[in-house]
Amino acid sequence: MSVPPLGTIAGVVVPGDGRGRELGFPTANLALERGSLPVDGIYAAWVGIDDDPQVWAASVSVGANPTFDGHRERRVEVHLHDAELDLYGRRLTVTLMVFLRPTLCFDGAAALIAQTADDVARCRALLTP
Ligand SMILES: Cc1cc2nc3c(=O)[nH]c(=O)nc-3n(C[C@H](O)[C@H](O)[C@H](O)COP(=O)(O)O)c2cc1C
Repeated sequence: MSVPPLGTIAGVVVPGDGRGRELGFPTANLALERGSLPVDGIYAAWVGIDDDPQVWAASVSVGANPTFDGHRERRVEVHLHDAELDLYGRRLTVTLMVFLRPTLCFDGAAALIAQTADDVARCRALLTP
């Protein structure tokens, strides 16, 4: 698919709450660098790791996790589709390609898991050449 990117976010991976793995969708949480964040929501994105020229397809959440935390700070969480890499301390460059939906407050983990599975399937399809 050929669309212009919506923006790029870069940051070093820091520990999150450790919940993503339990939900079945592990995420790398970014410590954000200068600049403003795009609007909260879920995006399909390409992700680069450090200076490696390879890019990885990902589903990305920008914003808080209202399902669990109420009004916590905004953050960027990256779920790589096809890699289980230890990313702590690595610097990710996240190029947002498509906005899928706004962040929602779900009535429990099961509903969030179901929606996230659908998001990942849509992101995969969007990023498939
Ligand atoms: C594709 C995707 C969609 C998500 N959508 C939402 C959402 O709509 N609402 C929400 O509260 N959290 C959402 N999240 C964030 C999860 O709540 C979060 O990844 C999980 O709680 C793990 O957080 P942790 O890494 O800090 O442990 C989403 C995460 C991903 C990867």
